Amino acid sequence: MQKIIAANWKMYKSRQEARKTAVDLRGMLAAEDLPGKRVVIFPSFTNIPDVLDVFAATPCVAVGAQNFYPASEGAYTGEISLAMLGDMGVSQVLAGHSERRHLLGETDEFVARKTSFALNQGFSVMLCIGETLAEREAGDLVRILSRQTGSALADLPEDCLARLSVAYEPVWAIGTGKVAGPAEVLEAHAAVRSRVVRILGDAGRNVPILYGGSVKPDNAVTLLELDNVDGLLVGGASLNAESFMQIVRA
Ligand code: 13P
Repeated sequence: MQKIIAANWKMYKSRQEARKTAVDLRGMLAAEDLPGKRVVIFPSFTNIPDVLDVFAATPCVAVGAQNFYPASEGAYTGEISLAMLGDMGVSQVLAGHSERRHLLGETDEFVARKTSFALNQGFSVMLCIGETLAEREAGDLVRILSRQTGSALADLPEDCLARLSVAYEPVWAIGTGKVAGPAEVLEAHAAVRSRVVRILGDAGRNVPILYGGSVKPDNAVTLLELDNVDGLLVGGASLNAESFMQIVRA
């Protein structure tokens, strides 16, 4: 399986900064041969057109959106539809990122609606899941991951599975510098894999599972070598082209 290295730029970068980072990255990617890697960048909505433009002729890079609303259109002030994203040339979205769950109140039920809506509309979805520190300390890791995965992946059309990926991002490791250790990542990814296979059958073995949470150039190799780690979802270290590129090379 090709490794997916994804950059979540969150609410960072002016248009000019986004374009500059994208141009720098394009230059570095053009200078190397990385056949086993696929790069996905999730800029803010307003920076998507510039980043798409920069990578228009770079087939190993896809550009996705960090969010969307699960309805075709309607009175949803401030929200953005998949049709609007599709119009720009985007066909890939995140769903269930921990910042949207914990800062903006997205529930499992809402994340499930978003996941199935986007997959049914032909989009690729990177479903994000992960436990809080309190949940982990209470011994609830497997239960939480099973619950988040189970609710989001119930009732998916079979033809959409090639467009699904899951990102395990422990909430306590996001933006904190505390990366999960190899044993913790192995345990969580094995639990997610077994849940995904239980829900989706054998096809679930091919669903990429990415790790996210304080991924840096110095821990990327170790993470990518672990069983069931099919890629990385990178926040802070993806904002700089050189540090992100070091992770892409890992
Ligand atoms: P950091 O890499 O900054 O911890 O963020 C991870 C993340 O939330 C990616 O979606």
